[in-house]
Amino acid sequence: MEDLAHDLDLRPGMRVLDLGSGKGATSVFLAREYGVEVVAADLWIAPEQAARVFAEASCCRRRCHRPRPCVNRRR
Ligand SMILES: C[S@@+](CC[C@H](N)C(=O)[O-])C[C@H]1O[C@@H](n2cnc3c(N)ncnc32)[C@H](O)[C@@H]1O
Repeated sequence: MEDLAHDLDLRPGMRVLDLGSGKGATSVFLAREYGVEVVAADLWIAPEQAARVFAEASCCRRRCHRPRPCVNRRR
């Protein structure tokens, strides 16, 4: 993750979309290390579950929405 983030030229205040954020470990890392604002969304992990990780990290505002799936289900 450090290598990948290093190449992104992230700076404090930037907004990052962590799509497929899981329980939020990557989101917390990016917020802590780079001071970016992270919008985290995951198809299978409930927002409340990730919110617990964010609350424990105490670096994040707690605003949870259940995202709509971004997969095409019309096939
Ligand atoms: C390898 S995990 C990511 C782990 C995460 N980066 C972390 O720090 O814990 C991949 C995640 O992508 C999510 N995912 C897969 N397809 C998705 C989709 N179409 N939209 C949103 N999330 C998706 C899965 O639910 C899974 O939690």
